[in-house]
Amino acid sequence: MCFRNRPPPPDLSTSALRFGILGAARIAPTALITPAKTHPDVVVAAIACRGKGRGEAFAQKHNIPKTFTGPTAYQDLIADPDIDAIYIALPNGLHFEWAMRALQANKHVLVEKPMTNTAAEAQQLFALASKRGLVALEAIHCTFHPALHRAREIVDSGELGHVKSVAGTFTLPSLLSPFFFHSDDPRFRYDLGGGCMMDMGVYPLAALRFITASDTAPLAVTSATATGHALDATRVDRGMHATYTLPLPPTWNPEAATKADVTAEMTVDFATPGWGPFGLLPRSIKNEITVYLEGGEVFVYNFVSPGMFHYIKVRPKCGRTRYEQAYRFRNGWGKRSWDSYRYQLEAFVDKVRGHSPALWPEPVTVITQLKIIEDVYVKAGMPPRCASSYKARDA
Ligand SMILES: NC(=O)c1ccc[n+]([C@@H]2O[C@H](COP(=O)([O-])OP(=O)(O)OC[C@H]3O[C@@H](n4cnc5c(N)ncnc54)[C@H](OP(=O)(O)O)[C@@H]3O)[C@@H](O)[C@H]2O)c1
Repeated sequence: MCFRNRPPPPDLSTSALRFGILGAARIAPTALITPAKTHPDVVVAAIACRGKGRGEAFAQKHNIPKTFTGPTAYQDLIADPDIDAIYIALPNGLHFEWAMRALQANKHVLVEKPMTNTAAEAQQLFALASKRGLVALEAIHCTFHPALHRAREIVDSGELGHVKSVAGTFTLPSLLSPFFFHSDDPRFRYDLGGGCMMDMGVYPLAALRFITASDTAPLAVTSATATGHALDATRVDRGMHATYTLPLPPTWNPEAATKADVTAEMTVDFATPGWGPFGLLPRSIKNEITVYLEGGEVFVYNFVSPGMFHYIKVRPKCGRTRYEQAYRFRNGWGKRSWDSYRYQLEAFVDKVRGHSPALWPEPVTVITQLKIIEDVYVKAGMPPRCASSYKARDA
């Protein structure tokens, strides 16, 4: 372990929530370290990394005062009594084990998406968190942003009538893929919970459920087609296309809830091939959701990172198309400068402090989403991601 003598920034609350990060992961600066800088009640106090040099370099670069390295780094950080909450930025297949270990050490957990490999694991994790009075959150950050709340509000308002179908797409062109993923990325490893449905797929699935207020309902998977990844074509999907039927909750729209024709579809791909002669013409990144309603469409551009830029296009069948943006909530709450990760952190801290967050996904939302992902894999003829071999002693 390496300590560096650096006093905390002067305006930090002395009782700020002290986060430790497991893994010097690429996503950690975006998802936690940067948002924490503008949160007066959060300090990133420690990082655990298996490699000594890499861990120390990461800590130095991000001004993290305490570093744990070596083979016991993760457990050592979790055992640190100075730490209140653990951010788990490890490959998917390790989330369950380390979130359970953290909860057993009485730490709150912010767990990267997907929360676990299986629905049963998420159920176990939430049960332990509840038993110990701790907070556990799956980091599907986009649903915390006001843009998705505004889209849901428009759909929910009834101005365009009932929902008929929803389509979500999140795809990267093959040309750009190497800039996002290493050739040996854990995303391509079955044993680490890899696959495109597990990675990019969680976003359109969560967002289309959220925007149509069906986020607590189990969707029925009607079809799924996987494109195998070159490294493990029978178990790891490079891309996935899935269709669902969408049982809208009766409280949201009693008439639509009885209809069988509300459908959803989603497409995700780590590396969509080019088109045209020999596939040489590159495609663009696609990151959008369209809700088709009786009276028109609601389209959300950049639903995954709406804090960067987004727009909501409301296109009635009769009447003028309008464009909206929402960087703050309708009641004025939030800040233009906050991205989805910052809104997510706000919710996490609110929950820990016993306040009411603007959004708090219930365990059923996470558990049903993981069950849907399992069903997608089965329908696509691939094995669902394997459960962790970790056996929790207090679950
Ligand atoms: N919320 C978002 O926007 C977002 C975006 C990207 C990814 N994610 C999620 O965040 C998690 C991490 O993704 P990432 O792209 O940041 O990953 P990454 O850069 O590959 O980092 C993963 C970390 O996991 C640790 N690790 C432990 N065992 C490992 C093993 N057997 N193989 C590889 N790494 C191992 C490594 O930590 P050490 O430092 O200890 O070596 C590494 O730093 C994933 O669950 C992913 O789905 C979320």
